[in-house]
Amino acid sequence: MKSNNFPIGIFDSGIGGTSIWKEITRLLPNEHTIYLSDSKNAPYGLKNKKEIINLSIKNTEFLINKKCKLIVVACNTATTNSIDILRSTYNIPFIGIEPAIKPAALKTKSNTIGILATKGTLNSKLFEKTSSSLGNEITIIETIGENLVELIEDGKIESKEMHLLLSKYLTPMLQEGVDCLVLGCTHYPYLIPKIREIVGNKIEIIDSGQAVAKQTRTILEKSNLLNNNKPLLGNHQFYINKSKKILGQIIPKQNRLKIEEKYF
Ligand code: DGL
Repeated sequence: MKSNNFPIGIFDSGIGGTSIWKEITRLLPNEHTIYLSDSKNAPYGLKNKKEIINLSIKNTEFLINKKCKLIVVACNTATTNSIDILRSTYNIPFIGIEPAIKPAALKTKSNTIGILATKGTLNSKLFEKTSSSLGNEITIIETIGENLVELIEDGKIESKEMHLLLSKYLTPMLQEGVDCLVLGCTHYPYLIPKIREIVGNKIEIIDSGQAVAKQTRTILEKSNLLNNNKPLLGNHQFYINKSKKILGQIIPKQNRLKIEEKYF
């Protein structure tokens, strides 16, 4: 079998990266995928750079052992802290995800954009570099989404606690005149309906899922790695190292080959 027919590997600190998986499988329906949810070690956002690098290496090796042909780091925190090291260590294409503050800077009319992300992303050198490239006329209101990932991993999206936290993080942004809100964590697209309850419809919510899917297609094309067997639909396998219940709620049964709890 040629490597074209091998799966795309996708990893995240938890189930958040499935928001990226959904965009990738929508754009590339005949590609096989393997998704790795390192939920046991979530949140990555509170870990230091070295810990995040070590976990990213472990996840990468797991996916390489499963013969993945390309790896999508479906985690802003892991990308902003480790993608350079991954790219220089492994001879396989990597796609990363970064908060979409550049597209937001092009869209904003109030010149004030908000970003909700993890501490690990907002403190990273890569984020600092991107945000300082926007120039002085754009004001960025940065907010750490403390505890949001934990609540999502625990299946508490609809909880009162979630509403109160989001309100605490987003209300000051509204007061500052933010008209674009960047979701800088792949878990957060699952919060969009809850966020809308607080910010209404006037604010544009921007995430990077579609851009990552397009970039994945571009790199597969350029590397001659698109699945040329063209099955009608790809197979999808999910590995999680904590309870698989939450993953089962997010990924419809007909879209997956298996969900396996794997303790790595
Ligand atoms: N989905 C990860 C991200 O995009 C969550 C990080 C975490 O585990 O704190 O940043």
